Amino acid sequence: MQFLADWQGFLGAAYLWVKAAHVTFVIFWIAGLFIVPRYYIHHQATTPGSAEDRAWIEREDKARTIILTPAMIIVWVLGLMLGVHLGAFGQHWFSAKLLLVTILTGYQGWITSYGRKLSKGHREQNDKRLRIMNELPGMLTALIVVLVIVRPF
Ligand code: HEM
Repeated sequence: MQFLADWQGFLGAAYLWVKAAHVTFVIFWIAGLFIVPRYYIHHQATTPGSAEDRAWIEREDKARTIILTPAMIIVWVLGLMLGVHLGAFGQHWFSAKLLLVTILTGYQGWITSYGRKLSKGHREQNDKRLRIMNELPGMLTALIVVLVIVRPF
């Protein structure tokens, strides 16, 4: 990671602005991760092909393309910039954070693929399982925030 060390401090006076933008987009991203699986619970109660079904498909599509995907990309880009600025690569708290954020990104992949199935009329998960899955982003968020703020290791 020597080449990254040369970039340490590269954000200069912009550091706190980048951090503020990072946290703002984290809020948008996590809000999206909370809301879209909630939509699915309502969506899968509808009859495939009905007007209500089509309205949910459109709502979910908008939430994914306007909030989830752009917010996730911006959070990653700004977060990696902060990591380079701080020289955090290789530090344990940062490695753990990257692992948890990768799980969160995988969860978003699952959300996207389940949304595609719902839009094709498949309803594979029951509501209880969706509600349990929905707890994941909250738990991961709490752990990630502890890692960046407390830096326990
Ligand atoms: C997507 C990949 C991510 C990367 C690479 C990343 C990286 C970073 C880095 C390096 C910092 C700067 C820490 C400091 O200045 O002390 C930071 C700040 C922060 N990150 Fe992330 N982050 C990511 C995603 C997230 C997510 C998903 C959350 C919340 C769920 C989050 C919450 C925060 C918070 C609250 C801060 C501010 C900490 C402080 O006040 O110092 N980050 N992030």
